[in-house]
Amino acid sequence: MLQSSWAVISLGGSVIVPDTIDTEFLKAFAALIRAHLAAGMRFIIIAGGGSTARNYQNAARELGETFPDDLDWLGIHATRLNGHLLRSVFRAEAHPKLIADPSLPIPDAKIIISAGWKPGASTDHVAVQLAKNAGAKKLINLSNIEYVYSADPHTDPTAQKIERATWAEFIALLPDHWDPGLHAPFDPVAARDAAALGMEVAVIKGGYSTEIDNYLRNKAFVGTLIA
Ligand code: UTP
Repeated sequence: MLQSSWAVISLGGSVIVPDTIDTEFLKAFAALIRAHLAAGMRFIIIAGGGSTARNYQNAARELGETFPDDLDWLGIHATRLNGHLLRSVFRAEAHPKLIADPSLPIPDAKIIISAGWKPGASTDHVAVQLAKNAGAKKLINLSNIEYVYSADPHTDPTAQKIERATWAEFIALLPDHWDPGLHAPFDPVAARDAAALGMEVAVIKGGYSTEIDNYLRNKAFVGTLIA
């Protein structure tokens, strides 16, 4: 099979488990993926931790002194739980094992499911590593935002939506380091790696199936393109 048929999707946990598990989203997502599988595409899907990760991390913080590694492992297990949910949705199509280490060779399957890797990383970071490993140049980052904004639109009324950004412009908007449970449009470490690899990242709102479909068909889409 051709390497170019891979599409890599960093599926933010905030899309899978915004509060409770969004089964309606998962049904629509599964239908979309299956339609593109039928057209010959292959997918690498990386599950985020969402509110499950944050609930556990917050509980640990409330219960006493915490160490970054413990918070990260709680997050990693949450991402793997979500990854296993995807694996059960795609039982017929996905490689049977969740890929825990994105530096290993990519198995031959129609769908590869991955999740958190190691403390200090993020699922965006895993997604960029897997894309590099698979030779894929395009990555879709599904999250709960319609666009990347020039500032936080919840707190800054002058925030502008960004439809297209260079890596330099995008990286300038991100915090320069990563903390467990951080909410940012993309992990800054992963962004620097993706920039160095010359990748293209599309940030699209998870519920916007039509826009994901448009991007996969190389059409104009609602969201932010970073290249
Ligand atoms: P993510 O922050 O990647 O998932 O992992 P998320 O919840 O989907 O993020 P959003 O919704 O897109 O913003 C959750 C937590 O798991 C730990 C980190 O603590 C991270 O904040 N984690 C995840 C790791 O330590 N290593 C990994 O490789 C992945």
